[in-house]
Amino acid sequence: MIFNTYFAALVLLAVSTSANPGKVKKCTVKHNRNGADDSDNILRAFTKCQKNSIITFSRVDYNAHTPITLAGLENVVVHLEGNLNLPKDIATVQRAINTTTNQPSTYATPWFYIHGTDVSIIGSKDFKWGRFNGYGQQWWDIGNRILRPQLATFNVTNGLLKDLKIIKPVAWGWNLPGRNIWVENHFVDAAPNNGTRDNTVDCLMVWRSFSVMIYPNTKFPPPGFNLSGHNITVDGYYGHNGDDCISVINGAKDIVAKNGYCGFSSHGLSIGSLGRNGANHTVQNVLFKNWTMDGAVYGARFKSWTGGQGFADNITWEDITLINVSTGIFITQNYYDQDKGPRPPNVNKTSTKISNMRYRNFKGTLGTNWTDGTCISTPCWNYVPGLDEPKSVILDLYAGTAANISLSKIDIRTHAYSRNTSVLCDPTTLVVGEQDTLGFQCTNGPFVAMPIKQTDKPGHRHRH
Ligand SMILES: *[C@@H]1O[C@H](CO)[C@@H](O)[C@H](O)[C@H]1NC(C)=O
Ligand SMILES: *[C@@H]1O[C@H](CO)[C@@H](O)[C@H](O)[C@H]1NC(C)=O
Ligand SMILES: *[C@@H]1O[C@H](CO)[C@@H](O)[C@H](O)[C@H]1NC(C)=O
Ligand SMILES: *[C@@H]1O[C@H](CO)[C@@H](O)[C@H](O)[C@H]1NC(C)=O
Ligand SMILES: *[C@@H]1O[C@H](CO)[C@@H](O)[C@H](O)[C@H]1NC(C)=O
Ligand SMILES: *[C@@H]1O[C@H](CO)[C@@H](O)[C@H](O)[C@H]1NC(C)=O
Ligand SMILES: *[C@@H]1O[C@H](CO)[C@@H](O)[C@H](O)[C@H]1NC(C)=O
Ligand SMILES: *[C@@H]1O[C@H](CO)[C@@H](O)[C@H](O)[C@H]1NC(C)=O
Ligand SMILES: *[C@@H]1O[C@H](CO)[C@@H](O)[C@H](O)[C@H]1NC(C)=O
Ligand SMILES: *[C@@H]1O[C@H](CO)[C@@H](O)[C@H](O)[C@H]1NC(C)=O
Ligand SMILES: *[C@@H]1O[C@H](CO)[C@@H](O)[C@H](O)[C@H]1NC(C)=O
Ligand SMILES: *[C@@H]1O[C@H](CO)[C@@H](O)[C@H](O)[C@H]1NC(C)=O
Repeated sequence: MIFNTYFAALVLLAVSTSANPGKVKKCTVKHNRNGADDSDNILRAFTKCQKNSIITFSRVDYNAHTPITLAGLENVVVHLEGNLNLPKDIATVQRAINTTTNQPSTYATPWFYIHGTDVSIIGSKDFKWGRFNGYGQQWWDIGNRILRPQLATFNVTNGLLKDLKIIKPVAWGWNLPGRNIWVENHFVDAAPNNGTRDNTVDCLMVWRSFSVMIYPNTKFPPPGFNLSGHNITVDGYYGHNGDDCISVINGAKDIVAKNGYCGFSSHGLSIGSLGRNGANHTVQNVLFKNWTMDGAVYGARFKSWTGGQGFADNITWEDITLINVSTGIFITQNYYDQDKGPRPPNVNKTSTKISNMRYRNFKGTLGTNWTDGTCISTPCWNYVPGLDEPKSVILDLYAGTAANISLSKIDIRTHAYSRNTSVLCDPTTLVVGEQDTLGFQCTNGPFVAMPIKQTDKPGHRHRH
């Protein structure tokens, strides 16, 4: 709160101290009352008020019926007092996304592409307003996965997204490739009206019959955030979504995601996937803190592909509450497409390295099922050898490439609140001495906490 008042004040201060002191332009976005597309009105306001401005959307439902690029923004504060509604008609959305010149993300094309410096988008305080309505339900009902839009890319240096509500997005939410971004109080409702954790399989079977490419890791309904930028904080997230709640991907650095709730059937607070097709991917300095994961397949997840390269360093998951989760803490460095046959050989004997990965203060319960309704292959996309029941911890490591993983204050219980949970961990994959600092017994068996031996400062380790 304090930060953002400060942040907004900073933006405005920058305006008043810039070349035109005191001259803050103001634009209000016009709205067509006859139901016509408002996209031109939006573009006009963002062109007129491109720099040192305040742009206000009135408290009405705007028809954002054409994908748009809002670029060249400098020192702009946007007040979204109204809602931005995508077309309800699926074919209209597909046609538009097929022809837009909006810069695509690697996995989809965004409806809104926003680029600039010092840009704030602040939603209404009223829960009914400040919304992006995607009308995704009808896509989910018929399992349509063709030409799905990603909601928005916010490719901004010094950005703020606050009090925004994302309602039934067709697919992916916000992509944040920029720098110095603060996201506060973000709401996502991407749960199907009639779907549950178990029956999403029906949807998937329908989707399959459309014979579009389905990666085993891209599930319906859509995920929340992709964080690939630098210095990004997400403070306050409430979402019902499938797939990853927060997904920190290649290139991300200095990321904090805190104070959130992930419901419905999410696939966790995730790093990755990294290193697909031997790629050299890096992620550095990430903190997930104070999250509740309700009904998720994973609480904390790290995923890199067999034969990947690069590294993930200094990642912490802290103060995590689990409710009905399939696996509390999960690492795989050996991921592959289970529906494309057996694991490919790791010909180059490489792996995305892991270092300084910390898990602190996890509490709560596992569910009764080690997976959810999104299995579309045998084995299931989330199967690892030996997985037959919910697990508190799975470390599926690539031998000798994971250093300084530590678990402390882990109190994960079974569905019936028993402490007898089990883990999957192959001790032969640990680097020498790793068991001393791991915090639990690496074995395929019951979870047994172990003291973490204090190591001295680098270069001063007294070992036998
Ligand atoms: C998308 O565009 C391509 C190339 O212009 C075209 O062949 C295809 O039919 C379009 N698809 C849809 C669903 O409009
Ligand atoms: C949800 O409802 C729609 C429309 O009635 C139906 O087509 C779809 O199969 C339902 N989905 C599930 C998972 O029950
Ligand atoms: C973000 O903007 C930079 C230029 O500022 C560009 O190089 C980059 O490709 C953009 N990234 C995405 C994902 O749009
Ligand atoms: C990181 O981003 C925040 C805004 O979220 C900004 O206040 C801060 O100055 C940035 N830090 C650096 C080192 O640029
Ligand atoms: C686990 O969930 C899947 C998908 O919902 C279901 O097919 C399977 O029967 C469940 N397994 C158990 C043991 O309940
Ligand atoms: C993040 O990117 C990956 C591809 O790199 C994609 O599969 C995933 O759906 C994206 N997540 C979000 C939240 O956009
Ligand atoms: C943890 O996050 C929740 C929101 O999910 C928030 O209400 C609560 O105040 C946070 N706790 C702390 C100690 O910050
Ligand atoms: C193995 O390394 C070679 C040479 O760097 C590269 O061309 C090839 O793509 C790699 N194979 C895989 C499966 O990563
Ligand atoms: C991977 O990329 C990093 C920089 O992102 C570089 O320092 C490193 O040398 C690269 N590693 C390989 C194996 O190419
Ligand atoms: C590790 O990451 C956290 C969170 O981004 C950061 O605060 C901390 O400074 C990092 N530590 C190092 C040694 O870079
Ligand atoms: C966990 O899920 C089961 C059914 O999937 C439900 O009966 C139970 O109430 C849930 N427990 C909690 C604590 O939410
Ligand atoms: C693991 O931690 C020790 C002790 O803090 C440190 O000396 C070492 O450099 C770390 N290893 C890696 C790969 O970061």
